[in-house]
Amino acid sequence: MTRLDDIRALEAQHIVPTYARQPVMFVRGDGVYLYDSEGRAYLDMLSGIGVAARGHADPDLTRAIAEQAATLMHVSNLYFHPLQAEAASRLAALSGLPRVFFCNSGAEAVEACLKFARRYWHTTGERERTGFVALEGGFSGRTMGALSVTHNEHYREPFEPLVPGVTFVNPRDPAAIAAAITDRTAAIIAEPIQGEGGVRPLPQASADAIRDACRSTGTLYIADEVQSGLGRTGYPFYFQALGLEPDLVSVGKALGGGVPIGATLVSERVAQAIAPGDHGTTYGGNLLACRAAIVVLEQLASGRLLEHIRAAGVHLERRLRTLALAHPAIVEIRGAGLMRGIELTIDAGPVVDLARERGLLVNRTDRTVVRMLPPLTVTEADLDRAVDILDEVLAAVAVEVTR
Ligand SMILES: Cc1ncc(COP(=O)(O)O)c(C=O)c1O
Repeated sequence: MTRLDDIRALEAQHIVPTYARQPVMFVRGDGVYLYDSEGRAYLDMLSGIGVAARGHADPDLTRAIAEQAATLMHVSNLYFHPLQAEAASRLAALSGLPRVFFCNSGAEAVEACLKFARRYWHTTGERERTGFVALEGGFSGRTMGALSVTHNEHYREPFEPLVPGVTFVNPRDPAAIAAAITDRTAAIIAEPIQGEGGVRPLPQASADAIRDACRSTGTLYIADEVQSGLGRTGYPFYFQALGLEPDLVSVGKALGGGVPIGATLVSERVAQAIAPGDHGTTYGGNLLACRAAIVVLEQLASGRLLEHIRAAGVHLERRLRTLALAHPAIVEIRGAGLMRGIELTIDAGPVVDLARERGLLVNRTDRTVVRMLPPLTVTEADLDRAVDILDEVLAAVAVEVTR
């Protein structure tokens, strides 16, 4: 068995240091469990940051991928293949947006949204309409375009100048949102629930302001559902819960259940403004990725999974609210379905570390928030076990803090 220390030494020589990895190396997964190189089991309440929606080593997904790999993985977008249209029609049925552009990640899906929005106004003759409105606390990825609509100064500043013409507004200020959206705005981008920003749902009044301002000015709304989409919240997409009407939706993470694939969902009016050559990608929507996506989307289409997520989400929320009563360090429980944030009065880092040492994986976002994004197939018993471990960890951390 390869040792963590050996891999760590090799990575230190050869991997670009963009990540501060935690001291654990996973070698195997099974359902909601991950196993490290020492054979220790971990209850995975993060699922690779919302990717392993069906858990790890899911038999149906594994079989489909293996079969596809043995048949045909890739032909390029120069040719037809039988799986892109099926994956697209399933996404259209779930979202109500009829057209899809496939890519390979969340950031790429956002890039396509931004480009398609610009292209729409260029095609329709309003060429000066190039601005974007984005939200404070928003995260949409780290490529130059996606970074330009990502708020965190720490991520942005070393890479400036970014795409010009982006205005950030407070997501909790509907009047400011309405004022920022003008007839010079190409699009407003907003996550229906901010993920990296601390699991913060968009307030209903702000969602209403976006919808109304887009209607009155013609501005396009881009729903960044990379994290909140595909059932995670108990809705196919959370923009549906908020009554939003996007022309563009970015999708990623869970779409391939672990196989890299992203998608930009597009309204007919925007799709009509796009011409061959306007955008493209070598891998996007290849057979292997689409086959994986079809397995994920088939399960979502049945409706039973959404019911399960809603019920499990209510159970988790109830358990977390009870946990909050026992721990003064918890100030708020946020989120929907199986996307939950626990806001603390203290840095969440030590909580995450101690949880991992006790066999539970969660992560920290926005410094003081413990985030849970379990596999969508998680059981209530798994969630109970996770909350019990958090209970112990918070008690231990409280003892440390008061010492
Ligand atoms: C809402 C949102 N948009 C975009 C991205 C970028 O996705 P990726 O890391 O696949 O490029 C993320 C990733 O966390 C995200 O949460």
